[in-house]
Amino acid sequence: WILNVTAQTPTNIAVIKYWGKRDEDLILPINDSISVTLDPNHLCTTTSVAVSPAFTQDRMWLNGKEVSLSGGRYQNCLRELRSRASDFEDEKKGIKITKKNWEKLHVHVVSYNNFPTAAGLASSAAGLACLVFSLAKLMNVKEDHSKLSAIARQGSGSACRSLYGGFVKWIMGKEENGSDSIAVQLADEKHWDDLVIIIAVVSSRQKETSSTSGMRDSVETSPLIKHRAKEVVPKRIIEMEEVIRKRDFPAFARLTCADSNQFHAVCLDTLPPIFYMNDTSHRIISCVEKWNRHEGSPQVAYTFDAGPNAVLISHNRKAATLLLQRLLFYFPPKSDTDLNSYVIGDKTI
Ligand code: DP6
Repeated sequence: WILNVTAQTPTNIAVIKYWGKRDEDLILPINDSISVTLDPNHLCTTTSVAVSPAFTQDRMWLNGKEVSLSGGRYQNCLRELRSRASDFEDEKKGIKITKKNWEKLHVHVVSYNNFPTAAGLASSAAGLACLVFSLAKLMNVKEDHSKLSAIARQGSGSACRSLYGGFVKWIMGKEENGSDSIAVQLADEKHWDDLVIIIAVVSSRQKETSSTSGMRDSVETSPLIKHRAKEVVPKRIIEMEEVIRKRDFPAFARLTCADSNQFHAVCLDTLPPIFYMNDTSHRIISCVEKWNRHEGSPQVAYTFDAGPNAVLISHNRKAATLLLQRLLFYFPPKSDTDLNSYVIGDKTI
C-alpha cells in the first residue's frame, strides 16, 4: 500500500524583516517580524508526501531533481513530526499504522515551486511550510497551526509565517527551547483584500549569499543590527500592527519601505558587505520614491528580500495598473536592464 497527501502553500513577504538568529539550530530570531502571505494560487509550493512499507529511505525531489533530506533542518522537522504522529487506520485499504510504526516508516516527498528557487523570493518559506503541513496531515499529527509553525520554523525561519494567510507576526519568544517562538495571525486574508502585490523579477538567478549565512555574518560583524533589533524593530512592530488594523496605506508604505531599506543597510554594514540589490533594484526604488512624492502621499510600497527582485505593494487595483504602466515604460521586460518579467497575480509578462 501507499498513502499520500498533497498540499499547496503560498509564500510570504516580510514587511518588517527577520534578520539574525539568537539560536542557529532551533532557528530563533533576534527580533519579531511581520509578513503578508500571498494568494495561494500565485507564488506557491505544491508538495506531495507519501509513505509506504516499500520505501527503504526518506527521499525528496525538488523541482524534478533529487535533493538530500539528510540536512539537520529537514531531520529536525521530520523528528518533531514523527514524535507527534498518531495512529492511523483505513480498514477498506487494509492500512494500519501505529504511532510507533511512524518512527520506522520512510517518506517520499515531491515538491514544486512555481517561482524561482533561492532567488530571494522566499521560496524556502513556502517550501518548508508546505513540507511540514503535508507531512503533519499524512502522519495524523493533531497539533494546531501555532505548534506546526514552531516545527516549520526549524526548517526555515520565515516558513513559520506561511502557515497562515493574511498578515502574520512571528513572535521571537524568550524561551531557550523555542517553544514560544511561533507565528500568529494578525488579520485574515479578507481584512485588507484590495492590496495588490506586483513582483518585478529583476533576476531569477540563485543568490550568491544565502539568507542563512548572510544573517550569520551580520550578527557577528554588524554594529547596526544590534541597534535595529533592540531599538528600531520593537517600535516598528507596534506601529505596523496598528497600521494594519486601521488599513492605513500611507503609514504602511512608509514603514515597509523604511524597514526594507534598513535591512539592506545592515547587509552593507556586514563584513564582508552583502549586496542583495543591484542597479535595477535601486532604480525601481528611485522611481517609486519619486512617484510617491509627486502624488503627495505614498501610492506604492516596495520591499526587497535577500535578492534583487522588487516586491511592490499598491493599495488598490487602480494604483496597481498605473504602477504597472510606469514600470513597463521605465523597465520593459527583456530590455537592456536585466529585468526578466513581472508577476502580477497569476499572470507573468
Ligand atoms: C530577508 O527564513 O530564508 O527573507 O531561517 O536561515 O532559513 P533561515 O532564513 P530565511 O530568511 C529570510 C530572510 C528575509 C526576511 C524575512 O523573510 O523576514
